[in-house]
Amino acid sequence: MTTDHASLPRPLRVVGISGSLQSPSRTTTLVREIVDEVGRRLPIEQTVSEVATLGPALGGALRRDQVAPEAELALELIEGADLLVAASPVYRASFTGLFKHLFDFVGQYALVGKPVLVAATGGGERHALILEHQLRPLFGFFQALTLPVGVYASDSDFREYELASAEVSARITQAVSRSLPLIEQAALVERSAYISTW
Ligand SMILES: Cc1cc2nc3c(=O)[nH]c(=O)nc-3n(C[C@H](O)[C@H](O)[C@H](O)COP(=O)(O)O)c2cc1C
Repeated sequence: MTTDHASLPRPLRVVGISGSLQSPSRTTTLVREIVDEVGRRLPIEQTVSEVATLGPALGGALRRDQVAPEAELALELIEGADLLVAASPVYRASFTGLFKHLFDFVGQYALVGKPVLVAATGGGERHALILEHQLRPLFGFFQALTLPVGVYASDSDFREYELASAEVSARITQAVSRSLPLIEQAALVERSAYISTW
């Protein structure tokens, strides 16, 4: 199923989240590559938030009303997005603690039906199943629309924090291509539901 892009009344709000604790970061590079690919295919407004930057605004908060303004803004962007690109480096076989801490503050029903493209980076290939065993269950909890193809890259796929792998680039293209009809459909459904409440 394809949708005429002209039927989208405004650019889609695409929000990337990088769970890396460092900058520069391979994960942030991967997020930006995916968001840029979406932007080549659809009219978008993009924001990329990095946990590495938000950390001090986030780490000490035990409740949402304690997070600093920049972290609150990141949470509101996540909740208001038309598409999330959610990525983390693998830390001890899972996403980073601060990535989870950020999503612990997201409203329980704020992501229902929202398309989420999951991605991860790791030191090697062995933990590529973080996509299936860690990230998909998290967004399953939120009742999000986790998109069919995720993207995983290893440290050897990067050179100086730039993506240097034709295979990973092809995977990004495939992930976005498979996702486009679902992203557009979700945006239209969301808007028609909104209009019907007027
Ligand atoms: C504390 C820590 C734990 C890590 N644990 C794993 C792991 O379990 N599996 C793995 O493949 N890589 C692991 N790594 C490697 C990182 O996932 C990998 O270098 C990643 O590309 C870093 O992404 P970044 O540049 O965005 O921070 C770990 C790195 C750190 C610092």
